[in-house]
Amino acid sequence: MGIIMDGNGRWALARGLPRVAGHRAGVAAVGRVVEAAPGAGIGVLTLFAFSSDNWRRPRAEVDALMRMLGSYLEKELGRCLEKGVRLEAIGRRDRLAPGLCRAIAQAERATASATNLWLRIAIDYSGRDAILAAARGIAHLSRESLELALGPPVDLLIRTGGERRLSDFLLWESAYAELVFSQRMWPDFSPEDLAAAVREFRGRERRFGAVPEIAMRRQEAWLD
Ligand code: IPE
Ligand code: IPE
Ligand code: MG
Repeated sequence: MGIIMDGNGRWALARGLPRVAGHRAGVAAVGRVVEAAPGAGIGVLTLFAFSSDNWRRPRAEVDALMRMLGSYLEKELGRCLEKGVRLEAIGRRDRLAPGLCRAIAQAERATASATNLWLRIAIDYSGRDAILAAARGIAHLSRESLELALGPPVDLLIRTGGERRLSDFLLWESAYAELVFSQRMWPDFSPEDLAAAVREFRGRERRFGAVPEIAMRRQEAWLD
């Protein structure tokens, strides 16, 4: 599943705090959600942490976000190893600070064989660019080879913060994703909210273009 973690800035604004305080609270929410994910039946969790368009933000905010990402990876590495979490970063690396790249590489190397949860953090990520980059690296382009290069299909896609858009996240992978839009600002998103979204997902009928069960039965009865 994927989460577009949105609303940190508005969370802070509502409390008269600087936007960066919202991002700090957002990191704490990440910790709680990652901890709860395996118990909620989640195998793959892709978190949208920094989009390629987020470079447009003020320099101070970008710098703070980058520092937080680096320290998250360093601080959480031990806990990830302990909990069997495989860490991976998706997105461009060539515009990231060398220190952050090293933290990513170290976390990926150390957790490569963990199997409880596959945690993918999207940093300097653009869905359109990811599709382009994957396609450019494939000699025999097919739906299957592209899918393999990009990553697993998304079953459930959550966006917090009340907006109803994808903002260039996992475009190919979300072709048949169930979308859940939450009014909660990301720092307030709790394990209970995660469980509620999973419950909502489980209650939906996924048809992948086929006919629904009931319609199928009706059709059969009519043909009989
Ligand atoms: C999401 O929160 C975090 C990032 C995009 C890095 P925002 O910073 O977008 O928060 P809002 O949408 O301004 O409230
Ligand atoms: C999407 O949120 C990116 C992340 C959550 C990292 P934004 O806040 O950047 O998206 P827009 O600008 O509202 O579309
Ligand atoms: Mg936002």
